[in-house]
Amino acid sequence: MIKTLLLLTMFAHAALAATTVVRCGRLLDVTAGVYKTNVDVTVKDGTIASVAAAAGKADIDLKALTCLPGLIDVHDHLTGDPQNSGYKGLGISVPRSALTGAKNARLTLEAGFTSVRDVGADGYADVALRDAIEAGEIPGPRLMVSGPALGITGGHCDETLLAPEFKFKSAGVADGPWAARAKVREVVKYGADLIKVCASGGVMSKGDQPGTPQYTVEELRAIAEEAHKLGRKVAAHAHGTQSIKDAINAGIDSIEHASLIDAEGIAMAKQHGTFLVFDVYNDDFILAEGLKNGMLPESIEKEKKIGKLQRENFRKAYLGGARLAFGTDGGVYPHGGNAKQFAVMVEWGMKPIEAIRAATVVSAELIGIAGVKGIVAEGTRADLIAVEGDPLKDARALESVKFVMRDGFVSKK
Ligand code: ARG
Repeated sequence: MIKTLLLLTMFAHAALAATTVVRCGRLLDVTAGVYKTNVDVTVKDGTIASVAAAAGKADIDLKALTCLPGLIDVHDHLTGDPQNSGYKGLGISVPRSALTGAKNARLTLEAGFTSVRDVGADGYADVALRDAIEAGEIPGPRLMVSGPALGITGGHCDETLLAPEFKFKSAGVADGPWAARAKVREVVKYGADLIKVCASGGVMSKGDQPGTPQYTVEELRAIAEEAHKLGRKVAAHAHGTQSIKDAINAGIDSIEHASLIDAEGIAMAKQHGTFLVFDVYNDDFILAEGLKNGMLPESIEKEKKIGKLQRENFRKAYLGGARLAFGTDGGVYPHGGNAKQFAVMVEWGMKPIEAIRAATVVSAELIGIAGVKGIVAEGTRADLIAVEGDPLKDARALESVKFVMRDGFVSKK
């Protein structure tokens, strides 16, 4: 009897120690689009135990701040930095890129992003980064990673900067449906949570065009089918009008960039339930800072052709009712600046609440991690951030995050 009592007290103690009450001056109800005022969020063992009217003593006082759910970026490259663009990147080893990733994981978490999808990294540096974060060795967002991006020989996801005598081919290159299927199996074998594929040319790659398709529908279908069979989603880099349609028809889950999408493509995305991920902030950084950071002159020229069109098409897709997730392509611009994209989304027609929904509930649906719902509610994982000011009036408020909690652990106070 005494033994049982003792045990009970011990457990009660452990439970108490693991409970934290966070008092928010305001808490954004992302679904309803309204604030609740003076709210206590009680966190127990990394999960939200309750959300209730403030009462009694709180452990963390955020009375002067506005709380929101942790933000989600579904298109990031934590292991790369903009200053290593173009030829400069060829001198960066995989282990070095993993260390860069550790730096950027912290910056991104401290910017309020508690879940991040990393879509394309050399040498599985992203897998190592995810695992080191999960092991509690370094701070960072919860990561979903793709490993090397799949692509055609000479395409956006291959390395085309080297002369032929180097005989270099990027690890994700696979031509033809069966080779592509085998590549899906291979990246899953080495730790990929999702598959990244290059369906069209791109801006940063040498010798291709964003508007031209790369993988065929047949190849894209093989990739989507194989990935889905293995329980993985597929994110397709697709700027071009045709490549976007090919990827949607192939059953791919999200279209990244989507720059040249037309009305038919928007309708198809809606019909298939395909998420669109427009990285609309990038254009500002590329045009202002790209050359200084080693981006190729041809990349700047390509950006000049598609940057504004992408923003216009983002507006059309939003007005057309497509499902827009939040992805920024961090690494093209400096990490930690992810939230700068909110203001651009608002400038191009989104209401601030819709931009916040993109980075919370919508992106949560795309990444599909248990307990990560993009809302602050009982039973969800305790990802909570806080900002000064009113993000529903001024999305720029999201650019300076004062408090970050991920899975109940405070990483910025
Ligand atoms: N990684 C992309 C590419 O090289 C970046 C595109 C950035 N430009 C833009 N307007 N979103 O194609």
